[in-house]
Amino acid sequence: MDGSTAAYKHITVTPIAGSMGAEIKGVNLAALEDDVFSELYDAWLRHQVVVLRDQEITPDQQLAFALRFGEIHFHPYMKGMDDHPEILEIVKDPGDNYTFGASWHTDQMFNPQPAKATMLYAKESPSAGGDTIFANMHDAYDALSDGLKDMLADVKTWCVGDRFKAAGGSARQERYTGNQKMASKVRDPGNLQTESAHPLFRTHPETGRKALYIGGHAQTLHGFEPAEVEALLGFLRSHSVRPEFTCRVRWEPGTLTLWDNRSVQHYAVPDYKERRRMHRITIAGDTPF
Ligand code: SIN
Repeated sequence: MDGSTAAYKHITVTPIAGSMGAEIKGVNLAALEDDVFSELYDAWLRHQVVVLRDQEITPDQQLAFALRFGEIHFHPYMKGMDDHPEILEIVKDPGDNYTFGASWHTDQMFNPQPAKATMLYAKESPSAGGDTIFANMHDAYDALSDGLKDMLADVKTWCVGDRFKAAGGSARQERYTGNQKMASKVRDPGNLQTESAHPLFRTHPETGRKALYIGGHAQTLHGFEPAEVEALLGFLRSHSVRPEFTCRVRWEPGTLTLWDNRSVQHYAVPDYKERRRMHRITIAGDTPF
């Protein structure tokens, strides 16, 4: 499970970058057969980000596809659609100046059991821009020196779901005011746990590969002084998204991209002026180790 392509009976897999990511053909999500799903799941574990084009699916069909990966993870801070609470509709209209997800992160890292996977289905996409970039945290881990790997082997991060430093410390409600549709979806997480300690280096529960587990929600490193944290986290953040670890997905209506939050960071590029509307479902994960 190292990004190498495998031979499949039903699907064809075309890598989109050297590090990770692949476009998959031969999948119809509106009528998904078990054999095809098994191959798709295998390809997803190998390539970490898989892109399916020209899918025509209803919210119920997207939900049925999501449930094949596990239970649904509900975003503690964001409300889903009225008729489909499992689906978060991400919308940005011309004139809006806040873009949901426009910083490097891995989904819901602040939860004790962060999301395993995220699937994003494009309903409307700009004619140019609005891509999503992904970075491969297995490659980021592998490229660290043995010295740094040894020094940080048992270190934990402290991750928070709101007021994170990468977003200037402001609350979601304040930050989202540049996009009223997204602001109207913000909710109080109540007594859900939204701060958690996680291993800086995690082991993928299905492939056994090590990954650097970092993103905008990670605020500090246990056992280090603030100045050391700033230097170490600063280095790890920029190292983790080196261009050679990334792939980039261009959206068209009908594109569905599925990524593995256990080994991938992502960044929604806020470079567009036309409407962009996506249906996003996250799948529940387990406790990182
Ligand atoms: C997200 O961070 O989940 C959204 C990504 C995107 O809209 O491209």
